Amino acid sequence: MSTTIDEILQQGDFSKKNIIALLQTDKIDRNKIFTHAAKVKEKQVGKKVYYRGLIEMSNICSKNCYYCGIRMDNKNADRYDISDADILDAVKFAHESKYGSIVLQAGEISSPSFTKRISKLLKQIKELSNNELGITISLGEQPDEVYREWFESGAHRYLLRIESSNPDLYYKIHPKNKKHDFETRLGCLKSLQNIGYQTGTGVMVGLPFQTYEDLANDLFFMKDFDIDMCGMGPYIEHKDTPLYEYKDLLMPIEDRFTLTLKMIALLRILMKDINIAAATALQAIDPIGREKAIKVGANIIMPNVTPGMYRDSYKLYENKPCTDEEAADCTNCMEMRIGITGDDIGYGEWGDSKHYIKRIQHGLV
Ligand code: 5AD
Ligand code: SF4
Ligand code: FES
Repeated sequence: MSTTIDEILQQGDFSKKNIIALLQTDKIDRNKIFTHAAKVKEKQVGKKVYYRGLIEMSNICSKNCYYCGIRMDNKNADRYDISDADILDAVKFAHESKYGSIVLQAGEISSPSFTKRISKLLKQIKELSNNELGITISLGEQPDEVYREWFESGAHRYLLRIESSNPDLYYKIHPKNKKHDFETRLGCLKSLQNIGYQTGTGVMVGLPFQTYEDLANDLFFMKDFDIDMCGMGPYIEHKDTPLYEYKDLLMPIEDRFTLTLKMIALLRILMKDINIAAATALQAIDPIGREKAIKVGANIIMPNVTPGMYRDSYKLYENKPCTDEEAADCTNCMEMRIGITGDDIGYGEWGDSKHYIKRIQHGLV
């Protein structure tokens, strides 16, 4: 390569060719990327981590993504749907523990009764926390009017990963049918952004058939789309899914982990003021995986507050951490873990995306 990593980082020349080179760096050079990203993070969003108490409210799903352990056709998944009362208890725990926000996540269900149930829950969450809790939802593809109703009921952030911005790869990891349509997913993301949500997306890293060019394009996709938040995690194979068949094509799991850290670091450099989550899947590979992500640019962590008895069943991938714990165990553990990174915890703060706040000020929302 004619230009060195130092030159690329200094000049800020993140052409596709350069990104691909950065993604392939070895240990010495990748540490340069990580150090640079850490500086950008400190300057732009500060050395501070915000909590989003994660409630995995149901693992019932009407879709059949080829990679996911809770896909509809997986007969081995033990299905559950937490009662509203238990969800609200988890919310109370998050509020009392001064987590600034919660995330409601579930498999994808679209029905008038589900829409109504979520709207009611959102209003109850706002009420029981005196409007102190921020609310992110991650409930898949829904009609525009449903997104609107939930926005008006109190949700202000939405996570919908694009999974891969390359339609060809998208259809290798999803069935090619109306229920898994790439254009529909893009349309949903647009609709969320238009309604005024802080909009989050992300991809899986290290998928079978995925190239470095795909990953570079994913970063450009997020930049072009002008997202406010990102959650990116390594792909972890699950034996009860169709994609497991291609496990021999995968790079070693440690390499998927490192590649995810590089993606996080590069996204922090490219989109300086967005919120980036340290995905839980990182910790399925490395016991201090999320802390490593915080060190290289992530500023959001999602401690699991799902009641203990359900945790083991929300298995999107194998080796998911914190499945034997109760929420209170994670609080102590997390505080110690973040302490080690040297970052502060934004207790009781929403920690909204600074990028979003600037977009509003510039009248782009
Ligand atoms: N490995 C890693 N991430 C996964 N997800 C689903 N299945 C897997 C897996 N096997 C991610 C998807 C989805 C999010 C909720 O979990 O990116 O958007
Ligand atoms: Fe359902 Fe989401 Fe899993 Fe796809 S990734 S099967 S939509 S829970
Ligand atoms: Fe859940 Fe450590 S964060 S047990």
